[in-house]
Amino acid sequence: MKRYFVANWKMYLSVAKSEQLIRQLIRYERGNKILRDIEIIVAPSMLALSSVSALVKQSRSKIKIAAQDCGIADAGAFTGGISSSELKKMGARYVIIGHAERRQFFNEDAMMLSKKISAAHKAGLGIIYCVGETQDERHAARAGEVVREQLRVVQGVTPALIAYEPRWAIGTGLAIEPHEAEHMHASIAREVRGVPICYGGSVNEKNIAAFINLENTRGVLVGSASTTFVGCSEMLGRMSKIIQAKAI
Ligand code: 13P
Repeated sequence: MKRYFVANWKMYLSVAKSEQLIRQLIRYERGNKILRDIEIIVAPSMLALSSVSALVKQSRSKIKIAAQDCGIADAGAFTGGISSSELKKMGARYVIIGHAERRQFFNEDAMMLSKKISAAHKAGLGIIYCVGETQDERHAARAGEVVREQLRVVQGVTPALIAYEPRWAIGTGLAIEPHEAEHMHASIAREVRGVPICYGGSVNEKNIAAFINLENTRGVLVGSASTTFVGCSEMLGRMSKIIQAKAI
């Protein structure tokens, strides 16, 4: 069973730092047979995507590239827009859609997200669709309902991955309790059958094992802890140990 390690570099790294980190990851991936069952997906910033992707391609690495966003249409009068088919040509295999930061800081609503999903799908990009509730929604016992509503946006298109990222757990150092993640993942699995589910929100080398051990979790979507080579290699090392132990 394939597992996923998705590194979302957000806007943390310069283009030069992104190129440096991908070079290190390419070397690490090449020298580590234990990573065979893990699909490593790196989402560099939009400005670094082309050069990071070219480095992966030149080295024939198995690392996959994801865009952090795409536009609502593929071409035309959309100042600042991002064409999904051009992303694909640049080497992106996936695109992250519906990330909490896009919903919060860029006011992306269901209508806009469904246009992005349709543009990405038409271009042949795999969709990594993010869902997750706010702290208030969790306290009001509305987390399940909110996530179900967010999942309605991907009806009709099968995403490559669903990432459950409670908004209050992103960038706060407060990851959700693994059993609560499992509860949500099981309910997502009932809604969107057969799509791998990843957890995201303050994942690091200390807590990754607890998430990888969950029954309904196929991987992780990591933000800040994935922006250093030490962070990535420690998390990948721990992840592969668990996968190997499970395989025995
Ligand atoms: P952090 O790992 O920094 O909490 O970010 C999670 C995230 O948003 C990944 O998409």
